[in-house]
Amino acid sequence: MKNLKEEKFYEDDEFYSIIEDILGNTHFNKLKTIRHHGITRFNHSLRVSYYTFKTTKKLGLNYVEATRAALLHDFFTDEVKEQKMSDALKNHPSVALMNAKKYFDISDLQADIIVKHMFPVTKELPKYKESWIVDVIDDVASVYERTYSLNSEFQAALNFIFIILLIKIR
Ligand SMILES: [Fe+2]
Ligand SMILES: [Fe+2]
Repeated sequence: MKNLKEEKFYEDDEFYSIIEDILGNTHFNKLKTIRHHGITRFNHSLRVSYYTFKTTKKLGLNYVEATRAALLHDFFTDEVKEQKMSDALKNHPSVALMNAKKYFDISDLQADIIVKHMFPVTKELPKYKESWIVDVIDDVASVYERTYSLNSEFQAALNFIFIILLIKIR
């Protein structure tokens, strides 16, 4: 298992100082063993957290709370494993919030970020700008991770189909 230093591939000390205690939490570290979008749930969460940090800081928003909540947005292990896909998609944000509250102090802003990150799959509108930002960053990260985790033959096949479609459309 990698140590904390090896995980510092985003190279930003302030980012890591904000999330250090979460990265040291034993339960949170279980996410390193769970596959998610072709990578680990830990690495997916770290990516969403880092881009939330960069975006919310640049926009002058509450970047400390947003960065921490973004890291915790998929904080679940096997709680929704037995559920069918559509139910798991809707239910995992509440499980993540429950786990986050169990181990960390969670503000209203952070709770909103975590529990609404699957909007519009979950119906309730995000209340804060930070919640909208995490929702969008999570979507973009998911698409990126799913695409780049595919093996090269499959990627090549997708590119081929894409080129054929482009030729047909023109
Ligand atoms: Fe999620
Ligand atoms: Fe996610």
